[in-house]
Amino acid sequence: MSLRRAIFPGSFDPLTNGHLDIIKRSLPLFDEIIIAVLNNPEKNPMFSVEERCALIRQILPEIKNGECDLVVDSFSGLTADFARKRKATAIVRGIRAVSDYEYELRMALMNRRLEPSIETVFLMAAEEYSYVSSNLMKQVFTLGGRVEGLVPTLVEAKMREKLK
Ligand code: PNS
Repeated sequence: MSLRRAIFPGSFDPLTNGHLDIIKRSLPLFDEIIIAVLNNPEKNPMFSVEERCALIRQILPEIKNGECDLVVDSFSGLTADFARKRKATAIVRGIRAVSDYEYELRMALMNRRLEPSIETVFLMAAEEYSYVSSNLMKQVFTLGGRVEGLVPTLVEAKMREKLK
């Protein structure tokens, strides 16, 4: 039987507990999941792509269980091209609320047009993370608000270091 390999693409600037929730839900569905971190320096990220990958690599062992392999890699260019190169058959994306749907639908249809053999698989995030996004976390944290429980402890510590 061929390997069920998926990519979970995103900016992950930074990884949130919402992302971790989606990865956990993907574990039983695939043999290998590649957490694909978009190299997007033009977006002026808080963390460099190397920092984001390193953070995710440190945190993943906390959620790993069973047979599914978790791999972290970065990419530039099209998600569909990266998925094809890595021989993935699925692109995993999380949906938090109806407001995510239109954007995600457009991306899924475009990705399908670019690479018809790869399906986008949508997973519903847990209700408690339905409002959690990397951008909101950065904004709240930068303005002195608490993000405890919404991002991994290590992410919170690294965000604190960035603000110093
Ligand atoms: O975490 P994000 O920022 O919501 O992730 C968005 C991401 C990285 C999945 C999307 O911007 C993307 O796929 N970018 C790569 C360029 C690309 O393939 N664009 C066309 C998608 S239809």
